[in-house]
Amino acid sequence: MAKILVLHGPNLNLLGTREPDVYGRTTLPQINRDLSLLADRFGVELESYQSNHEGELIDRLQAAVGNTDGIIFNPAAYTHTSIAIRDCLSAIQIPTIEVHLSNIHAREEFRHRSMIAPVAMGQISGLGALGYTLAFHALLEDFAKRGLLSE
Ligand code: DQA
Repeated sequence: MAKILVLHGPNLNLLGTREPDVYGRTTLPQINRDLSLLADRFGVELESYQSNHEGELIDRLQAAVGNTDGIIFNPAAYTHTSIAIRDCLSAIQIPTIEVHLSNIHAREEFRHRSMIAPVAMGQISGLGALGYTLAFHALLEDFAKRGLLSE
């Protein structure tokens, strides 16, 4: 069975109460649950993981090698700062969709630059929790092209 890893970076565990005007009211467990339901429906294995620590996110990405076919990743603030996470994505070569709830390009200047975008398959930004669903479907499409969905 094809496998998707969903990774959430720092402070995303606070979703629901964290600046709801910017990030919406959907909680992280709700996002993960919706993705799990989708995964069940489409016959894909899915695992979700959140960490506030850069090194832990990197450890989880490295552990995905050989057992994961695609990644949905909101690196949160590390998007704008982490060369280490970018290097890791470059090294592991697992197709990754970068997701942001808010539109990072419409916010402060320091959020306009993503370290991750150049090594991601694509970026979804500004569509709220829907972005995760869209990222799931984008990966599914990629899996189909790679012949990973045939029983
Ligand atoms: C975010 C955008 C980042 O700039 C910010 O640091 C976050 C969340 C988003 O989902 O909109 O923590 O990745």
